[in-house]
Amino acid sequence: MMKRYHSFLFTTFICFLLPAVASVSAQPLAPINTEGQTFVEALMRRMTLHEKLGQLNLQVAGDITTGQAQGTHIGGAIARGDIGGVFNIKGADKIRALQDIAVRQSRLGIPLLVGMDVIHGYETVFPIPLALSCSWDLDAAEEVARISAHEASADGIAWTFSPMVDVALDARWGRISEGSGEDPLLAGLFGAAMVRGYQGSDMADADRLMSCVKHFALYGAVESGRDYNTVDMSHVRMFNQYFPPYRCAIDAGAGSVMTSFNLVDGIPATANKWLVCNVLRHAWGYDGLVVTDYASISEILNHGTAESLREASMQALTATTDMDMCAQGFLHLDNETLTSDELKLVDEACRRVLEAKWRLGLFRDPYARLDEHRRERDIASSEHRDAARRIAAETFVLLKNDAVLPLKKSARIALIGPLADNRVNMDGTWAVASCPERNMTLLEAMQETVAGRGEVRYAQGCNLISDSTLQAASEFGKTIARGNEQALHDEALAVALDADVIVCAMGECADMSGESSSRSDLLLPDAQRHLLQKLVQLGKPVVLLNFAGRPTVLTWEQEHVDAIMNVWFGGTEAAPAICDVLFGDRAPQGRLTVSMPRATGQEPLYYNHLRTGRPAGREWHKYQSNYLDTSVEPLYPFGYGLTYTTFSYSPITLSTNEISMSDSITVSVNVTNTGLREGCEVVQLYICDRVARVARPVKELKDFERISLQPGETRTVRFTLCADKFQYFDGEGNICIDPGLFDIMVGPNSRDVQTAIFNLVGTNTVF
Ligand code: BGC
Repeated sequence: MMKRYHSFLFTTFICFLLPAVASVSAQPLAPINTEGQTFVEALMRRMTLHEKLGQLNLQVAGDITTGQAQGTHIGGAIARGDIGGVFNIKGADKIRALQDIAVRQSRLGIPLLVGMDVIHGYETVFPIPLALSCSWDLDAAEEVARISAHEASADGIAWTFSPMVDVALDARWGRISEGSGEDPLLAGLFGAAMVRGYQGSDMADADRLMSCVKHFALYGAVESGRDYNTVDMSHVRMFNQYFPPYRCAIDAGAGSVMTSFNLVDGIPATANKWLVCNVLRHAWGYDGLVVTDYASISEILNHGTAESLREASMQALTATTDMDMCAQGFLHLDNETLTSDELKLVDEACRRVLEAKWRLGLFRDPYARLDEHRRERDIASSEHRDAARRIAAETFVLLKNDAVLPLKKSARIALIGPLADNRVNMDGTWAVASCPERNMTLLEAMQETVAGRGEVRYAQGCNLISDSTLQAASEFGKTIARGNEQALHDEALAVALDADVIVCAMGECADMSGESSSRSDLLLPDAQRHLLQKLVQLGKPVVLLNFAGRPTVLTWEQEHVDAIMNVWFGGTEAAPAICDVLFGDRAPQGRLTVSMPRATGQEPLYYNHLRTGRPAGREWHKYQSNYLDTSVEPLYPFGYGLTYTTFSYSPITLSTNEISMSDSITVSVNVTNTGLREGCEVVQLYICDRVARVARPVKELKDFERISLQPGETRTVRFTLCADKFQYFDGEGNICIDPGLFDIMVGPNSRDVQTAIFNLVGTNTVF
């Protein structure tokens, strides 16, 4: 199989055709120019083995103090040429201190690569990536990345470990918050948009960053949603469902790729030659920097596929992994005797690190991102905060609204819940550079919004979670006050009794999702659910604002609460943005990019599943693929979201009922705003290949369009599909197209679609 994968034909066609699957035509990272090549070659001729291995070593800088940097452990290591890059250090002065040592004191003066997890903003924090994807707004994603790059680069950063494009089907996995949900097309498009936003047209520009597509590969498929757990997957699934987003982001020109912690076919990704060398480099044509995830090389020993750090390091180098994050495995090869083949591997890896530095313009001017005037002007500017507010408002998903929203600004509101008067939890996970003291609390924003007209009375109402140990573990330092449960309830009920409407700010705290935050139960945390049940019994209108980094099980809430809006974690401007939508200055626009389950036991739950031999019907029947105790359907499907108006769809029109492999088909539908205010709709197109040689999903998103319509306005939305939209991969990575009948489905979400059928004429084709 490996041989076949290597075949010229395969490589040619896969490179040619796959971008079309993701409907973005682009190229992987271009080689550096001749001047750069000559420079890097000349530099490498002067380097000792120790210096080459040093370039492959990426270290956490720790909290250094300027001036003393020289005396620190890291300062000494940089001066000796032991370190090629540092990460997660904040502050231009600190970075300058380290860069000074690299440039002025190390023998060859090679500048450091300085990275950071700039995941959803720098000091201006934007919504978590999962929320951002719910905007279905690729321009917004590009803008988020552009602003993040602008701010981080003003503070000395050159490299971000973003975008994460891992497809995630299991909401128990906390890192579902860091990606774009369950759909491969969307995850790829968002990843590509972010790569463009970070890097611009030339990542050497001082206000740009090099992006890093992660985690290659399949990290989102950890068994049981438990972080760092095993991944074991068929190649059909890899090629069709998991690989396309990495490929799409790489084809947008990403400057680096990070390997994942998990196994792929029983071999750790970092040491997996088939994955990194054959697929990424040979088949996809990527010759940029590959960095490991945190200590992944030493973790190869834990996986049990190497006996020593030397063996693990050589496996990684053989796989063509270039830079070692934190394991110090490569560095220690200096004490070993290396064969000429091993030395060649070191040379190749070193070349790719130096080329990344060249691409970033670091050899031209290592201080270009250390201009002291930029901080004042470029970081957390009012323009960036305005963008953060506008974009956050696009990400909220209105799940239910029984004529309660938008709220009147003259209302008497009871604002209740552990997230209502909290600043630090507005940012969500992975906001390493944020300044949460600048965030407004929801209480402050709401008071400002209704000032002079309405009234907001607040009570925390309950603890985040009943169990104090579990609460402390979940918070990860972003504390929410604890109190006596009964006293908190009594206070909340008293406040609520006096109000016209009860708004509950409940859900997860910021670090209940993200890395190492898997959950086995996706309900609203117990203490909050109990209070919500009591509040509902008061018989007043209740609005639930659900803070979450993953899908929540809201089955009881859907039945009993009047309005539910998922607000995720919106970042610096979360609170004012929530008020913009809650009080109707803006309409909700978000649509789910993850299926929301009825019960945790439905996970992994995703709309684009394969067909079973015994599909469940509407009613429960024995010997069908169903559950005794719940439906197989999600509570809210992928693509779903309401707004303050309604839309109607005309029947689908097809330009033809039959096309050949070289034709295209146009699908049209008229969408009308049937409500009383302007609104945004995301018109979604799905297909189903009815019969193919390899089983195909019930539905696959192939295109979408966001439109904004005035009341009464009708727009014709047209999608043109070429034959490449109907292709898939077999288990050997061959691209196949099978003629026959296809369903074309169009609608406002993956469930409520209309269907038309057309025939693709031709013969079974394998490229
Ligand atoms: C995470 C990566 C991250 C890295 C550096 C790891 O634990 O898995 O996503 O980029 O740390 O902070």
